[in-house]
Amino acid sequence: MRIGIIGLGVIAPYFLRAIEQDEQLELTAACDLDLAKFAELPEGTATFTDYQDLLASGLVDGVVVTLPNDLHAAVVAEALEAGVHVCCEKPLTVHTADARMLAEVSARTGSTLFTAFHRRYNSHVLRLAEELPDRAQIAKVTARYHERIEEHTGSDRWYLDVRRCGGGCVIDNGPNALDALRQVAGELTLVDATIGDVRGGVEFYAELSLRTEDGIPVQVELDWALPTGEVKDITVHLKDGSTRSADMLAGYHGFKSSLDHEYQGIMADFRAAVAAGPERRDDGPVVVDLVEQAYLVARAKEQRLRMPAKEPAEATVVKRLFHRRTDRGMVLSPWASRCVRAGEVHELVTTTDRPGSTGDRVDAVGFLGFAEFRTATVVERGDQVWADGRLLGVVAGFDECHYPNHYNILIDTDRLLTGEDVDLRAGHTVVFKEHA
Ligand SMILES: NC(=O)c1ccc[n+]([C@@H]2O[C@H](COP(=O)([O-])OP(=O)(O)OC[C@H]3O[C@@H](n4cnc5c(N)ncnc54)[C@H](O)[C@@H]3O)[C@@H](O)[C@H]2O)c1
Repeated sequence: MRIGIIGLGVIAPYFLRAIEQDEQLELTAACDLDLAKFAELPEGTATFTDYQDLLASGLVDGVVVTLPNDLHAAVVAEALEAGVHVCCEKPLTVHTADARMLAEVSARTGSTLFTAFHRRYNSHVLRLAEELPDRAQIAKVTARYHERIEEHTGSDRWYLDVRRCGGGCVIDNGPNALDALRQVAGELTLVDATIGDVRGGVEFYAELSLRTEDGIPVQVELDWALPTGEVKDITVHLKDGSTRSADMLAGYHGFKSSLDHEYQGIMADFRAAVAAGPERRDDGPVVVDLVEQAYLVARAKEQRLRMPAKEPAEATVVKRLFHRRTDRGMVLSPWASRCVRAGEVHELVTTTDRPGSTGDRVDAVGFLGFAEFRTATVVERGDQVWADGRLLGVVAGFDECHYPNHYNILIDTDRLLTGEDVDLRAGHTVVFKEHA
């Protein structure tokens, strides 16, 4: 098969070496906007600065697409329409609709659509998949894909531009992590997703929760902000407490040195996919869909990991209280948060009733005292309440029986605490901290 490559950036050399080592493949053409990138190509390779000219040249039966993510959909569609088989780097596309469109074009034209997921050919992932114990013994599966993104990028900063990359570590590392997990555990459904450390719209951290068809929980951690180095592994946790794992980098000591055998696997499988013809279904769209779902869930959430949303707020105790009641009849108000101005005084009340829903009655209470907020803040359910370096409990919500004079700020505690129990005195500081 005569192969062209479109995009000669950081990942291209791994494809070029794999093509060179495969006797059934011949590199005939290459395309990049940057002429300097042609210097390292084997002699005789035709070069193009416009991918359409490469597709029209008649020099290629298949192309490898290694362009920035936002260009994949259009270039792959044109290649398939031109009757050229396509091996496209992950993510196949940024959006599910585009991935489905490509699958349709492939089905209509008979040109092969193949997404390059290199971790499915990793020797350790293959071994783990082969040696997987009976599924009934599996309690959960976890995966980590941690790296420092700056160590993996070229001079072009498209990775850090949400319009070109589509996001951060979820769309960049998610596809290979999710595909490797699918090889080990089977089809996955997204359950939950949380992103964090978002910089200019691009997340540097994410946690995904998924489930296999037979209900095994799967947790994925994606991290772009490791100080240096890489952690890329999958662990199968068995119900007897033992684990089986695949450390994808074990034994591959040089930076990215595992990639050579993985990209050889990609090219061999691409050939097999072309030979199998249009019946074979590409997994690219399924993974694009999981990534898109993760963004829909995570971006709609109020919660962000590793991103403090507010400074700790200090309040000065202006009067301490000593009593406790078991029949107080306070009521949990509907508000999850309340804005508090600097200088406002509110009453701090501990409770063991665990109120959770609007209107819940709060009878078991211990009175800590009244405190004046030194700064404006937003007090929220879940905030930690500290006094004298000791965590008293977390804000459960608010009771408004004294409002507008003041709120009772209800604090979940394991036992009822009063001002005397915690040695709170007038002038002491109580700190409200966002729950990490
Ligand atoms: N870098 C990695 O470790 C890695 C690993 C796995 C997958 N990938 C994927 O491979 C793809 C490419 O990533 P990269 O890191 O090699 O990017 P890169 O920025 O290093 O390379 C992209 C290349 O495409 C060229 N280019 C841009 N627009 C072009 C156009 N219109 N026509 C022709 N050439 C054009 C650029 O000049 C550049 O040489 C991405 O989809 C990425 O997700 C990268």
